[in-house]
Amino acid sequence: MNHDSNNTQRVKLTGADIAKHNSKDSCWVIVHGRAYDVTEFLPEHPGGSKIILKYAGKDATEEFDPIHPPDTLDKYLDKSKHLGEVDMSTVEKQEKGEDPEEKERQERIKNMPILEQCYNLMDFEAVARRVMKKTAWAYYSSGADDEITMRENHSAFHKIWFRPRILVDVEHVDFSTTMLGTKTSMPFYVTATALGKLGHPEGEVILTKAAHKHNIIQMIPTLASCSFDEIMDAAQDGQVQWLQLYVNKDRAVTKRIIQHAERRGCKALFITVDAPQLGRREKDMRSKFDDVGSNVQSTSGDAVDRSQGAARAISSFIDPSLSWKDIPWFLSVTKMPIILKGVQCVEDVLRAVEVGVHGVVLSNHGGRQLDFARSGIEVLAEVMPVLRERGWQDKIEIFIDGGIRRATDIIKALCLGAKGVGIGRPFLYAMSAYGLPGVDRAMQLLKDEMEMNMRLIGAAKIEDLNPSMVDTRGLGMHTAVVPSDTLGLNVYDPLVGPRMKSVKERPKL
Ligand SMILES: Cc1cc2nc3c(=O)[nH]c(=O)nc-3n(C[C@H](O)[C@H](O)[C@H](O)COP(=O)(O)O)c2cc1C
Repeated sequence: MNHDSNNTQRVKLTGADIAKHNSKDSCWVIVHGRAYDVTEFLPEHPGGSKIILKYAGKDATEEFDPIHPPDTLDKYLDKSKHLGEVDMSTVEKQEKGEDPEEKERQERIKNMPILEQCYNLMDFEAVARRVMKKTAWAYYSSGADDEITMRENHSAFHKIWFRPRILVDVEHVDFSTTMLGTKTSMPFYVTATALGKLGHPEGEVILTKAAHKHNIIQMIPTLASCSFDEIMDAAQDGQVQWLQLYVNKDRAVTKRIIQHAERRGCKALFITVDAPQLGRREKDMRSKFDDVGSNVQSTSGDAVDRSQGAARAISSFIDPSLSWKDIPWFLSVTKMPIILKGVQCVEDVLRAVEVGVHGVVLSNHGGRQLDFARSGIEVLAEVMPVLRERGWQDKIEIFIDGGIRRATDIIKALCLGAKGVGIGRPFLYAMSAYGLPGVDRAMQLLKDEMEMNMRLIGAAKIEDLNPSMVDTRGLGMHTAVVPSDTLGLNVYDPLVGPRMKSVKERPKL
């Protein structure tokens, strides 16, 4: 080893130096051109030791980046384990083409549809599914348990139909609005979604730039891949950003985060209240297990459990004891409006009004938490009449998120009384597949849909939208399609209708 521990005369480490330390007895990894001895840290790694051992003796940057905030190593690994710079020209490049799955993915990327072939938000999802890395796709697309709530979020909108008005002058349509005291050009915002760099190497700042172009508000996640300051720095000319907060067990840390965000100019604080424990997203777990441990036999059962992956690992700080009695404290440490994200019934909305928060997001975390939680749009239809009955509809701003893919979905929510809606996965998919131009186009498509549909429903401005423009009678009907119902889909024989004799069936278009 030509490593010199004397700081004054440091010689760079070589790839060969690192490669020797490739076992659990001596485990070195490279991150961003620097070497780290993580041997003693292995048992403590919240994501388990297996994932680190996969990169023992190698460059782990690509795996490390999306799921660790930039200052992780400085914060959690003792300085004595920071071994110094590595001469990266001596490090063997990991051939991406070697992995047959990666090779196929690269082939699919080459054959991707051009951006202009994406006509709606679902198209981005279809492309992203084919071109994203398997583990990233699994993390973004998964929902909890049987993913019934995740599907319900989208299909709930199909149970609401319009009652449009005719002969309204809609030559000029204006769908700008105000959320939490700020003007915005459209009644939707980019909601907080963790780990942006899994989908794109630049991460959340892509969403910031696109949001700026369209004058849309962005909610910054606590568990972003970029640092909070990087995301704030990427904003321009008074662009509005909100902070999503996972509350830390250590309230001093939480207070620091809140006050830093306020000083940096964040305009609202969204406290996530639907995740005292992270949901069990089996698709995500399965993909991690395939990737990291498929040929590792588990003897203790422990190994399998730890493959639950990044999300759970990095969220271990979240305080499950958070309760209503903490709300006054939050109100006392900041002047930012406080919004509870993840409220799911009218009783809790009323309580939120009583404790004096400024808003709620009716949300089930994109179907990633409690399966069989109802959709935000259904809860909205339950909440607004009760608020109106009490004359409380202006005491609090009501937002919803989950499953919103079309401007008609947004319009339905606004008709029922939402101030605005959050959109999560579609922007992640647009970013993962096409980068900034993708998110830009996704936003533009929504804008175009918005203009056309406002005209067709007979509303020239947001204030014209009201409950009499929608028929919600079907909303309470829940019919769950169970995608992982192995009995229904794989075991019971399907019922088949009569077949044509020997004529070829007409192919589907
Ligand atoms: C990949 C992913 C990561 C998410 N991360 C967070 C998070 O860190 N904090 C949070 O409050 N909500 C998080 N959410 C939930 C979203 O804020 C939002 O409630 C949900 O995505 C809305 O549903 P949609 O994806 O169908 O639009 C996440 C959602 C996804 C899909």
